Amino acid sequence: MYICICNAIRENELRRVARHVSGDAEACYAALGKRPNCGSCLDDAEDVLFEERELGFQSAAAA
Ligand code: FES
Repeated sequence: MYICICNAIRENELRRVARHVSGDAEACYAALGKRPNCGSCLDDAEDVLFEERELGFQSAAAA
């Protein structure tokens, strides 16, 4: 599923970047060599980043 249509960024790409890049959606887009265009995806992208980082934190805490 695409999170960002303007940049063709898939959810799985964003999740992978979220594990290695701190910062907001714009920072993660930049790590992919992209930047927001229309901006309509940013709220959803932030939700994905939060969810992915929360899952990672919970996995690390359980180990
Ligand atoms: S959908 Fe992501 S910038 Fe337009």
